[in-house]
Amino acid sequence: MNPGTPPIVDLAKGLIPRTIYSSQDCFEQERDRVFSRSWMYVGHESQLPQKGDFFVSQCGHEPVLVTRDMTGAVNVMLNHCPHRGVKVCRYDHGNAQRFTCPYHFWSFGSDGKLVGIPKEECYEGKLDASQWGLMKARVALFGGSIWATFGADVPAFEDYLGDAAFTLRDFWAGPDGEDDGWEIVEGVQKWDLPCNWKFPVENAAGDLYHDPSHASVQRLGIAMSGKKGRHAWDADPAKFRTLNLGYPGSGHACRASLYDDEKRAYVSMWGQDPVVDEYFRDAHYERQRRLGERSRFYNRGGAIFPNMTYLAAGRTAVTIFVPRAPGMSEVWRWYFVPRKAPQAVKDALRHYLLRYAGPAGMTETDDIENWTGAQLGTASHAAASNPFNFMLQLDKAKPAWPVPWFGETSLCDEGISDNGQRCFYARWNTAMTEPVRAANARVIALKEIA
Ligand code: FES
Ligand SMILES: [Fe+2]
Repeated sequence: MNPGTPPIVDLAKGLIPRTIYSSQDCFEQERDRVFSRSWMYVGHESQLPQKGDFFVSQCGHEPVLVTRDMTGAVNVMLNHCPHRGVKVCRYDHGNAQRFTCPYHFWSFGSDGKLVGIPKEECYEGKLDASQWGLMKARVALFGGSIWATFGADVPAFEDYLGDAAFTLRDFWAGPDGEDDGWEIVEGVQKWDLPCNWKFPVENAAGDLYHDPSHASVQRLGIAMSGKKGRHAWDADPAKFRTLNLGYPGSGHACRASLYDDEKRAYVSMWGQDPVVDEYFRDAHYERQRRLGERSRFYNRGGAIFPNMTYLAAGRTAVTIFVPRAPGMSEVWRWYFVPRKAPQAVKDALRHYLLRYAGPAGMTETDDIENWTGAQLGTASHAAASNPFNFMLQLDKAKPAWPVPWFGETSLCDEGISDNGQRCFYARWNTAMTEPVRAANARVIALKEIA
């Protein structure tokens, strides 16, 4: 932290100024201080099965083109032409060996190299093509997912994850515990969400107590078991602890169950279809065999700092919240089904995901209303100086608890808590107040934010 710079959020008291969701200055500084110095999820390798496959995505504020080039390597490149900045690729996804800019027709290979310049002779040999390719991001591949950053000083991806790596590895393991177990349901769902990007991320980081806002869908019973509730685990009578697991140093967090018994029996997930039920039964015991004691861990979902969230436990989906304005985000959503599962399983999960999530899903429509309402609350003039409340279970969370393999840098508590949210904001606060070396970093205007 800069000497003399007070924290923006007061996590010791559990108080967060509402202006961090509405201030234009805060929004702009987040670009420099948070997004320019983080790894961000941009997509999944199953979107690029063949050489030449590509799709477009967002790396924070930056539009990117993601390709599998003709050598098989994955590239993430700024989707702006280096000549005058026009967007080079206008398609959502496809297969191409060349991308030609529609303005002056510079063209680029699938590895981003500049390979075609009309009227090249007019540059009289002064244009060094090797210096004018698409701008490349650093790329990390993790369990099938693709991550990128334009920040040269950002630590290697595994260091960026730190102890939280096991939560993300667990998420990307298939229902049977095998690494890299998922494939995309083709297409990326996108919609506008009129709220600050942090509201949905902090929700994914640890908000297990807004369940009453989903009461109608919980009563309806949309779970795959068809028996009870809206989650896969609702019908399982086995005993577990409900945990809020966070990593305040890195800002990553997840909501999890920790079952008492690593040998717990399978409970029917999809009794209506024996093929689907058999798949999940086999996967359940295979996961126990593969993971041993760690199969007690049941990841419900979480957040990877800054703006990636995931839904787990039968609702495998990844979301990025793209900041567009203090009170406006763009949501990009990828859905996944187990790569090696029979088609009947893939169909059953796809139908469940459609019922559950997305702008027409029964659970997510509740949350869209929740977050939109929270944003409206930031505009109250009467309450402008009143902070929001994050006081649940202050100082209760313990490191490496209740199992040591959560890691020494973890903080975890049980039940109804704001621990995950506070861990997310702890990292955010550090990013927003520590010295920044980048030349374009501005000194934070604390008066406006705090
Ligand atoms: S802007 Fe792309 S070729 Fe000119
Ligand atoms: Fe919710």
